[in-house]
Amino acid sequence: MAASQLRLGVNIDHVATVRNARGGPHPDPVRAAHLAIAAGAQGITAHLREDRRHIRDEDMERLRAEIAAPLNFEMAVTEEMIAIATRLRPHAACLVPEKREERTTEGGLDLAGRPEILRDAVARLADAGARVSLFVEPEERVMDAARALGAPVVELHTGTYAEAWLAGDEAGVARELDRLRRAAAHGASIGLEIHAGHGLTTQNVRPVAAIPQVVELNIGHFLMGEAIFVGLERAIADMRAAMDEARGGAPA
Ligand code: PXP
Repeated sequence: MAASQLRLGVNIDHVATVRNARGGPHPDPVRAAHLAIAAGAQGITAHLREDRRHIRDEDMERLRAEIAAPLNFEMAVTEEMIAIATRLRPHAACLVPEKREERTTEGGLDLAGRPEILRDAVARLADAGARVSLFVEPEERVMDAARALGAPVVELHTGTYAEAWLAGDEAGVARELDRLRRAAAHGASIGLEIHAGHGLTTQNVRPVAAIPQVVELNIGHFLMGEAIFVGLERAIADMRAAMDEARGGAPA
């Protein structure tokens, strides 16, 4: 698969985290979204949390109105969020756990706990025109469960991989990469589109970007932290370059 087929979705949540630390309008996450697109991101991701700790309702409204690139609306599976998303009609909706009882021990969405609620949420968001993804653990059986719920896309949780990398745990990195590769291959073989994200950095992104079935990476925290030192444009360009290198060269 060509390098150009691996998309970078930039998560701008933590621009809002910094803004909210002071209560004023600066820095504006929508401005960061414009800059991210200009710097080479293929889409913007934002997570409207139930507690509104970073992105707020008006940010979502403005992102939807002002950003022409695909908007990926990350959300918990609640009636409130489904109502907002079906009204805003984003390009994509990524269902994520927010409460302890909604997640597996590793951190992905627990698909077995309340399948009817998830199946209903997937169907309603799809009816509103959203491409729905489930943020899940990289396990083959979880791919089957996601498919059974009617989701066209899964986002593989790379958090455990990223933690192993940070800890310098080589065996853990190898084990997690193996899980990611096997889940991606199995997921794609049963018709799922494969995304990945959480905790990815320019240091650890290459082996994940090299997994051939992965077509989108969603990356936020590292890029925003790095932007403090080198600027957002450069941080995104460096990430894009690492992704393209891993995928076998710059896009044509
Ligand atoms: N993908 C999903 C589903 C997420 O919830 C997040 C943010 O936690 C990310 C990707 C991006 O993770 P990070 O900010 O660690 O890059």
